[in-house]
Amino acid sequence: MTSVFKGRSFLAEKDFTKEELQYLIDFSQHLKGMKANNQPHRYLDGKNIALLFEKNSTRTRAAFTVAAVDLGAHPEFLGANDIQLGTKESVEDTAKVFGRMFDGIEFRGFSQQVVEDLANYSGVPVWNGLTDEWHPTQMIADFLTIQENFGELTGLTIAYCGDGRNNVANSLLVTSAILGVNIHVVTPKALQPEATIIAQAQAYAKESGAKILVTDDVDQGVLGADVVYTDVWVSMGEEEKFQERIEQLLPYQVNQSLMKKTQNDQVIFMHCLPAFHDDQTTYGKKAAQAYGISEMEVTDEVFRSKYARQFDQAENRLHSIKAIMAVTAGDLFIPKV
Ligand code: CP
Repeated sequence: MTSVFKGRSFLAEKDFTKEELQYLIDFSQHLKGMKANNQPHRYLDGKNIALLFEKNSTRTRAAFTVAAVDLGAHPEFLGANDIQLGTKESVEDTAKVFGRMFDGIEFRGFSQQVVEDLANYSGVPVWNGLTDEWHPTQMIADFLTIQENFGELTGLTIAYCGDGRNNVANSLLVTSAILGVNIHVVTPKALQPEATIIAQAQAYAKESGAKILVTDDVDQGVLGADVVYTDVWVSMGEEEKFQERIEQLLPYQVNQSLMKKTQNDQVIFMHCLPAFHDDQTTYGKKAAQAYGISEMEVTDEVFRSKYARQFDQAENRLHSIKAIMAVTAGDLFIPKV
């Protein structure tokens, strides 16, 4: 299985089969065990990894950095103000230069086209650390977290409550459909996923048996859910939309009442983070002052409840990013898991 990954980029979930995505989830779990047992796993020994960040990050940057070091590679962080990408130098030229120096490139930014061009022109594996369209490394961590909780994925139901058009919603819709996990996108009509993405997910669901529901009805959307998932109401670069989004999404806030509507005692709560669950941040204070709310997509009560798995998800970013880098850029024997 590992040879099918060698030299490939990880740009969007649709580029991988159900078996390949499942392998990445299982291999992430295997690497998590190796780290816990202090077993060396230097599959990228001596290699150099470029970390390109146009947007801020806590988890993705930390996970790529620690994963690279654990794998024996050197990570080099290159922020938006450090290099000429897209300002003084084209993506094509930058990719050609980096392809001659680095063994793999991570990119976090706005445009999916940029990450695809980096892959096309660099000749080395490129990993999508988030674009406006997709967040694929997040998905391997998320489905690992779900698998850890339920033992398997097939037939489970995720209810995603919130902005149905952001990258996490897109990725959850398509990844769930590929993996055979039922996915409900619970969102106002104005924020429902693009028709092309729903159609793409429906095509995968036909193969996998996953059931897809896009609804503005919270009661219908969360009933029977095994996982309630939410994300920030305003994505990076959309900050002027705060007021509008609060008005649209307040009925979809994940609170105790919504969790109970699942009618599932085993339900878990997930969030890719960062989360606006209190007013302890600059953003939180601004929202509290300007709009009179101290919690947005999830209440502090749910965030700190028995349902909460968001910090397991955050940790799993490390193990899953490590798996993705190892199988695509590594050249050592990787055991079957
Ligand atoms: N979930 C996620 O991508 O976190 P960061 O923005 O902190 O990288």
